[in-house]
Amino acid sequence: MSTLDHEQVLIRTGPRSGLPVIVAVHSSKLGQAVGGCRLWRYADWRDGLTDALRLSAAMTAKCAVAGLANGGGKTVVAIPPGAELDAAMRRALLDDVADTIASLDGAYATGPDVGTTPEDMAVIGERTPHVFCKPIQHGGSGDSSPATASGTLAALRAVSQRLHGTRALTGVRLSLVGLGSVGLRLARLLAEEGADLLVSDIDHAKQAASEELGATWASPEQALTSDVDILVPAALGGILTEDVVPRLRCAAIAGPANNQLATPTVADLLHRRGIVWVPDYVVSAGGVIHALTMELHHQPPDDARERVEAIEHTVAGLLDTAEHQQVTPAQAATELARLRLNASPSNSRPASS
Ligand SMILES: NC(=O)c1ccc[n+]([C@@H]2O[C@H](COP(=O)([O-])OP(=O)(O)OC[C@H]3O[C@@H](n4cnc5c(N)ncnc54)[C@H](O)[C@@H]3O)[C@@H](O)[C@H]2O)c1
Repeated sequence: MSTLDHEQVLIRTGPRSGLPVIVAVHSSKLGQAVGGCRLWRYADWRDGLTDALRLSAAMTAKCAVAGLANGGGKTVVAIPPGAELDAAMRRALLDDVADTIASLDGAYATGPDVGTTPEDMAVIGERTPHVFCKPIQHGGSGDSSPATASGTLAALRAVSQRLHGTRALTGVRLSLVGLGSVGLRLARLLAEEGADLLVSDIDHAKQAASEELGATWASPEQALTSDVDILVPAALGGILTEDVVPRLRCAAIAGPANNQLATPTVADLLHRRGIVWVPDYVVSAGGVIHALTMELHHQPPDDARERVEAIEHTVAGLLDTAEHQQVTPAQAATELARLRLNASPSNSRPASS
């Protein structure tokens, strides 16, 4: 039988909403556990529990590699199929979430995730201070997309340094898949820097923005498999499948889209093809670094910006380690997280395997 790898998991039926509220605290070895609040439909609430356990562990690795003094946690509200979520019900479940988080006495703080918004964080913030990514007018750090885009740019500089020996992105050929909140901001930063941009989105309305930037517009399939230096996934997850890998013609992949690999083995396939893949959770950490630095660690915006830009050094370090130790950058990141967690002074538990 496997053991519970988490410090605590709180499951309760929300007294107002009647819905299952699950908070998983994976680790607080490095500091307060953090992770978004997911509102999602599940056939069975236990599927929501599985998500909370998995996603909270992933947050521990994300924070550790980002050098944050935080651990990993996650909230999942499992909405049964067919349940209606009107405004009153939504308010009820956010109050239930807030009280559940408050009962953990600061062990965990939440933020937005799939199904929740910064405005929802302001509602949760009425009942507990352990919340981040609130809108600016509610005393929060606001939209996380600009910091996520800046952090991705920093990661791309490190990749460029590895490929071409220079961190400048001028003339570097990049293919960006997804021109949403993060992708469009990133495309602007890259265009300002003189990068050679190919961009795509399933939403054709984004083509006008592409023309303004002087980028070449392509279909998502063309963008994915085009001959470029760096492929930048900035849309949805699962884009890198076993079938896609043989058709890729890029030297490296680094982008903010979450869960890019369809399966973990794709990282090895990419490595075998000589394509450098930087783990998405490292590249996309800018938003959470910015929000936590300002809202939970109460540091000034300049400090937050510096920490986001430090993603360049993190990625450079991972690429160096991967090369010297003949491992994938994904394995180097996992090892870095393990070392940081085990080096923590508050480390009182045996290392998990
Ligand atoms: N917003 C943040 O701060 C943040 C932080 C960490 C990670 N991320 C991740 O980055 C990615 C982008 O986030 P966002 O906030 O910009 O989302 P968004 O919804 O604003 O943008 C996504 C864009 O991708 C496009 N798209 C969807 N499917 C596509 C496909 N198959 N091919 C091409 N384009 C497609 C959409 O039309 C949209 O324009 C997501 O995976 C998100 O989880 C975002």
